[in-house]
Amino acid sequence: MIAIGSDHAGYLLKADIIKFLESKGLQVKDFGTNSCESVDYPDFGQAVAEAVSSKECEKGIIICGTGIGISISANKVPGIRAAICTDSYMARMSRQHNDANVLAIGERVVGPGVAFDIIETWLDTEFLGGRHQNRVNKISNIEKKYTVK
Ligand code: RB5
Repeated sequence: MIAIGSDHAGYLLKADIIKFLESKGLQVKDFGTNSCESVDYPDFGQAVAEAVSSKECEKGIIICGTGIGISISANKVPGIRAAICTDSYMARMSRQHNDANVLAIGERVVGPGVAFDIIETWLDTEFLGGRHQNRVNKISNIEKKYTVK
């Protein structure tokens, strides 16, 4: 199951992405927003990130105008590695090297064709592990250091 969410500035691209994912036979859980009416991107970044962090969903896709605000928000949730990608090279690297579990896209930055290419690459690419695992562990250690118990 893929969690998906956007603010108003990502709503139209989100609708296209949901159709794209469903046409590939993938199951999608939509966390909103549900129109182009102005909303706050942290609410949707948080909802998708929590669905991934709790393992309710395997991966997440988040969209705002630039992909920046919503990815910053998602990255505040423990266990989340949200990567903003503007092309399929970044998408591939974010999986192979960073084990990104949330993909962020900017509707005002890329069109649907590039977005679909990014998503296809991101979903099809595995984490390489090895030396990259050690680095990802170090990211988790930073998170642990600042997590209030
Ligand atoms: C909304 O206008 C815009 O600020 C938001 O979608 C996003 O780009 C923020 O990072």
